[in-house]
Amino acid sequence: MSKKPLIVFEGIEGSGKSYHILNVSKYLDKKKIDYIKLREPGGCKNSEKIRKLILNNKSSFDKNTDLLLYLAARSENINLLKKNYGKKIILIDRFIDSTVSYQHYGLGVNLKLINMINKFLLKEIKVDFTFLNVVKKNNMIKRLKKRKSLNRYDRFDNSFYSKVQRGFLKLAKKDKKKYLIINSNLDIEINKSLIIEKIKKLI
Ligand code: TMP
Repeated sequence: MSKKPLIVFEGIEGSGKSYHILNVSKYLDKKKIDYIKLREPGGCKNSEKIRKLILNNKSSFDKNTDLLLYLAARSENINLLKKNYGKKIILIDRFIDSTVSYQHYGLGVNLKLINMINKFLLKEIKVDFTFLNVVKKNNMIKRLKKRKSLNRYDRFDNSFYSKVQRGFLKLAKKDKKKYLIINSNLDIEINKSLIIEKIKKLI
């Protein structure tokens, strides 16, 4: 049996990544194809506890504490990932690129430290493919305004998200074959079929 891929959906707030990962999981359900889906921070029970702590509007952690909490949340998912890696399709809503883009490119945390801890946690686990959803500033603002509630990481100023998005794009440029950039300013139906066509090739 061939190795099942680990596929990640990345992008800043309002970029449509959660919508598209949901659409892919509906597609797999319809086709009765086995997969697991998780989000970060979050996923397993302990990681969801850490998510609540990080994203709570009443929290006010230092950027290094945030980094360690995001990585702690990831650490709690490692057993689940190891158990399924290669055996089942794994879909993840945000993963290591979010840590590099938000904590390093957005907040200035040391990149070597982030890479070192990610490497230590992940070991043989590797991302096979990433859908990077990008969005224009105006559309991001519009979409954030529609949200019923905003968490602690939805409240940075616009220039922060621009820096983070540029970070994501830098990562995608380094390994072009492993990324598909989805321009979420375009028609959502076109993007949905672009993603599904790529998924069919990946699985
Ligand atoms: P979400 O609402 O899309 O699930 O994202 C939660 C927030 O956490 C989002 O603002 C991005 C941020 N985040 C980081 O800053 N670093 C990370 O490593 C991860 C996984 C998420």
